[in-house]
Amino acid sequence: MVVNGKLNVMGGIHKMKKKIFGLFMAAAASLFCLAGCTTATDGGSTGSGTTSNTTTTTTTNAGDDGSLQVGIVLPTKDEPRWLQDQAQFEKILGDAGFTNQVLFSQGSSATEKTNVETLLSKGVDVLIICPQDGAAAAAAVEAAKAEGVTVIAYDRLITGTEAVDYYVTFDSFAVGEAQGQYLIDNAPAGTDIPLYLYAGAATDNNAFIFFEGAWSVLQPKIADGTFKIANSSEAEALKGKASLTREEMAAIIGQVSTDWDFNTAKSKAEANLTIAGADMKGDVLVLAPNDGTARSIADVFASDKDITSYVVTGQDSEKASVQYIIDGIQSMTVFKDTRTLAQDSVEMAITILKGETPATDSSYNNEVKDVPAKQTNIVVVTKDNVTQALIDSGYYDAADFTGLN
Ligand code: GAL
Repeated sequence: MVVNGKLNVMGGIHKMKKKIFGLFMAAAASLFCLAGCTTATDGGSTGSGTTSNTTTTTTTNAGDDGSLQVGIVLPTKDEPRWLQDQAQFEKILGDAGFTNQVLFSQGSSATEKTNVETLLSKGVDVLIICPQDGAAAAAAVEAAKAEGVTVIAYDRLITGTEAVDYYVTFDSFAVGEAQGQYLIDNAPAGTDIPLYLYAGAATDNNAFIFFEGAWSVLQPKIADGTFKIANSSEAEALKGKASLTREEMAAIIGQVSTDWDFNTAKSKAEANLTIAGADMKGDVLVLAPNDGTARSIADVFASDKDITSYVVTGQDSEKASVQYIIDGIQSMTVFKDTRTLAQDSVEMAITILKGETPATDSSYNNEVKDVPAKQTNIVVVTKDNVTQALIDSGYYDAADFTGLN
């Protein structure tokens, strides 16, 4: 989208003053646009529009010197979740009149690094980045830091580097805890109930936090024999431990990771059910880490004639999963309101552009430093509250679904 308001007329003014003036003009531009600005679907005066399947551009002319103000790098277009984030960033920053560009890394740390370099070459002041691989992204943000750019890790933490200034995140421990608690609250009566564990990508720090949250509530039920682990010898060996080290979690995740990929999730679920004995069938529980993997795992479990019933978790409130929940195929999802997360990141970026220090409410250790963080709460969504949580809140349109009450 291009917002046409010719404002880059400030040559010669000191950089900081230019920034403040730029902010003022940006606000003026957004007001001006209410009165009638032209929009286009892609392209822009400083950007190139959709230049490849890894690139999407949104620009305005409100930048202080024509350079890019906020650069955003997201992991992949292949999960609807990140497209929701992209839409929020483009809307919020576009409406506020800030030059910005969103680039996708498409599952490649090399592309991610190139994306950061592209944004640096366009003079970006603030980089908002959700890493594909939390450790590998360190090199990219170090390059940004070297050019004086402020780095905000978005949703996933970047580990092993000093070069992260802030972290904007959902409460990921609470996500895992809610998934585990849902399984407990909706488990069939009895003992020895088969529990299938699946996790996210081992390269994503969040996958550990989600698992840690889930384990914190599931472990006592595994230890006392209410649940029995169906598909991880590592988890089985550690069932006596209330809290796990990162290495111990890595061992479990190594066995049950989906890599956040629905095809991997599908093959893993199929392989697990192929070798599962009768004692691991019947009424079962499934910890699925997010919606994409939950849908493919649910499809596999639903088609096994020896599975009488299953309860399966999810995360992200993707449209397809909301429909699955309405249809009774997926049991729950965790709503992470990306509007809030994008809004928080943008507010943080604007505060930084003004030369002020943004507010934070927590901190996350990334192995070398405690990164000041701003955290957002999550909401559990089931068939019972789907309308209230996702439609009444304006997140989705009722017309996007069939069979809503
Ligand atoms: C996590 C993110 C989740 C989910 C997942 C798969 O890091 O917090 O919301 O989208 O990645 O991409």
